[in-house]
Amino acid sequence: MVDKIPRHVAIVMDGNGRWAQKRGLPRMAGHRAGLSAARIAIEECAALNIQYLTLYAFSTENWQRPRAEVEYLMSLPEEFWRKERKFFEERELRLNFLGDMSGLPETTRRVLLEAMSSTEERTKLTVNLAMNYGGRAEILRAAKLYALRFPDGSGDEDAFARGLYTADMPDPDLLIRSGGEKRLSNFLLWQCAYTEIVFSDTYWPDFGARQFRDAVAEFQKRHRRHGGLLDRGAGRD
Ligand code: FPP
Repeated sequence: MVDKIPRHVAIVMDGNGRWAQKRGLPRMAGHRAGLSAARIAIEECAALNIQYLTLYAFSTENWQRPRAEVEYLMSLPEEFWRKERKFFEERELRLNFLGDMSGLPETTRRVLLEAMSSTEERTKLTVNLAMNYGGRAEILRAAKLYALRFPDGSGDEDAFARGLYTADMPDPDLLIRSGGEKRLSNFLLWQCAYTEIVFSDTYWPDFGARQFRDAVAEFQKRHRRHGGLLDRGAGRD
C-alpha cells in the first residue's frame, strides 16, 4: 500500500524569535531565516505532490508586536517573492493569500496581488500565505455572507464554508506547529475540525526537510491506524 499523502498541509511557523535570541541576534534575523525554512517546506510539498500548503505568516494578533518588527514582517512577502518568483515559475506553483488584505500596507498588498494574478492558472501546488489572518474573524465573515445568502438558515456546512478564505480547497489533513507550543493560535479553526496535528519542538528556522518528512510520516502512522475503518467520511473521530 502506498502511504497516504496529505492533500493539504498547514503550518504554524513558530520559534523564529527564540531561534534568534539563542544566537544573540535580533528577532528579525529569526524571521529572515524563517523565510528559507518556508522555501524548504514548499520544496518538500512539491516533491511529495501535496496540493495545498498554508503558511501562517502574520496573525491578526501580531499587530501588537513592536512597530519595527511588524514593519519587517510586512516586508517579507516582497523579499520572498523577489527570491522565489523564479522557483515558483519553474515548478508551476501558485501563490494565494488568506486573510484580510485590506489591512496590509500598500506595498505588501501590491506584491501579493501581483504574485497571485501571475500564478493563478497554476494547479500543481498552491501555497497559501496567511497574513492579517484570524480564524474567528474568518468565521464571522463567513457567517455574515451565509446570513445574506440564506436568510432562512437553510444552508448546510458546505454552503457556510464557501464564505471562508479557503472556499473550494480541501481542509488541512495535517497541521504542523514548530517551536514547542501546543495550541492552534486562532489558525484555521473551522477547517481543522478533523485535522491531525503534529507538534515539533524545533524552532521554525531549523525546521528542514527531515523535520517536514518526519511530520508527514507521523501523519501516515496515525492514518494507518484508522485505515479502512475510520477513514474520513467513513467514520469521524
Ligand atoms: C512566529 O514566530 C512567526 C511569525 C509571527 C512570522 C512567521 C514568518 C516567517 C516564518 C517568514 C515566512 C514568511 C513568508 C512571507 C513566506 P515568533 O516570532 O512568535 O517566535 P517566538 O515564539 O520564538 O518569539
